[in-house]
Amino acid sequence: MPGRAPVRRRHHRGNPGVRRLRRERACRGERRDDRVTGSATAAPSFEALLDRSGLAWMGQNTTHLEPPPEVIAALAESTSRREFQLYAPALGFERLRELIVGDLGLTGTGSVAMITDGAVGGLYHVCTALASRISRLITTDPGWPWPGRFVGLSGIPVTELPVYAAEQGYRLRASQLAGAIEPGSLIYLIDPLNPLGSSYGRDELTAIAALARETGSLIVHDCTYRHFATGHSLVAELYPEGTITTYSFSKWLGLAGLRVGAVVGPPALMRTLTSVPANPLGASIQAQRAAMAGLEVKGPWLERLRAVNGANQETVCAAVEASGLGQVLVRPSHGNFLAVDVSGSGWTAEALCGAMLDHDVFIRPGSYQSPLFGTRFVKVSTSVPAEWAQRFASAWSAVAGEAPR
Ligand SMILES: Cc1ncc(COP(=O)(O)O)c(C=O)c1O
Repeated sequence: MPGRAPVRRRHHRGNPGVRRLRRERACRGERRDDRVTGSATAAPSFEALLDRSGLAWMGQNTTHLEPPPEVIAALAESTSRREFQLYAPALGFERLRELIVGDLGLTGTGSVAMITDGAVGGLYHVCTALASRISRLITTDPGWPWPGRFVGLSGIPVTELPVYAAEQGYRLRASQLAGAIEPGSLIYLIDPLNPLGSSYGRDELTAIAALARETGSLIVHDCTYRHFATGHSLVAELYPEGTITTYSFSKWLGLAGLRVGAVVGPPALMRTLTSVPANPLGASIQAQRAAMAGLEVKGPWLERLRAVNGANQETVCAAVEASGLGQVLVRPSHGNFLAVDVSGSGWTAEALCGAMLDHDVFIRPGSYQSPLFGTRFVKVSTSVPAEWAQRFASAWSAVAGEAPR
């Protein structure tokens, strides 16, 4: 995952309107707020961490519970049939595409799903295939850095609007967006928001969608953590013609290493994406079999997953409160993670994560996801065995008794 930050190049393609806009901006002497910031190497070496067998793996928002037996059976069956020797259909199995549209509640709307190598493969494809019609990417800080870096490859500027504030519920206000949006923007809206755990109400999404419609902008609604949220709404229902929804199996089903996900959108937009897929040889068949098996049993699985996630969030919150070190920002979180502010404690997020790692608990500093606020908070993943949450609690209380480094 971590790699080098991309070398930025000028964007030579593009429609005349977008090109004119960039020229005008340059003439006005406007500084492009195109911080393709944050080191891509900030994360620890996952390879080294994998060698530590006793580690409580609470730093990737992935799910570490015993998977549904149906998923394991589907993987075993696919392996025994040696399906790994085959390429898959370019857009994925029809059945999986239907199941995903159904899971989003979009059956009958004409929405088209395209299977990708994880949600991030879909995001890369959207950001590169649609680059010629994007004038600016607008997202949040904190947020998830990769789409900003992807559009940066085409020279498209990025605006990251600050949302690290309790008074705005740790999420984007439509009024902030109104101050930054321009014709042809791409709004990259993460909801629930990794890393803070906030989520948008339908009324807030309606206001954001109205701004997008007025300015001919697109919305990428990153719904990677949707299955953990309470009362989640889809922008696709409010602005169907201009919204692409991302879908991930990494978090709710725990298939992160299999790399399977999807993007879903209206036929007109999807035509551009499906005509030249980023991976025309198709996402792994084994991964798709596991994904279909998971969707078939999602009811009981989600019930269990959400119960464990909720209980672990309680454990983590109680440990933070009792320790006097830090403060959970959004509680309950709509994701499978909690953000804990440690500013004013004498610890930086990085040093604290290092100290937790000494206790065999892997959590991540905010610096990976926030140029502005990243040293202030750490993120703790909670869809893990209850025993790991207990280990987090003991380690946190031990670290709280240590002198900050
Ligand atoms: C906001 C967000 N979008 C996309 C992804 C990538 O998901 P996937 O594993 O399906 O590629 C992540 C993973 O951490 C994420 O946090």
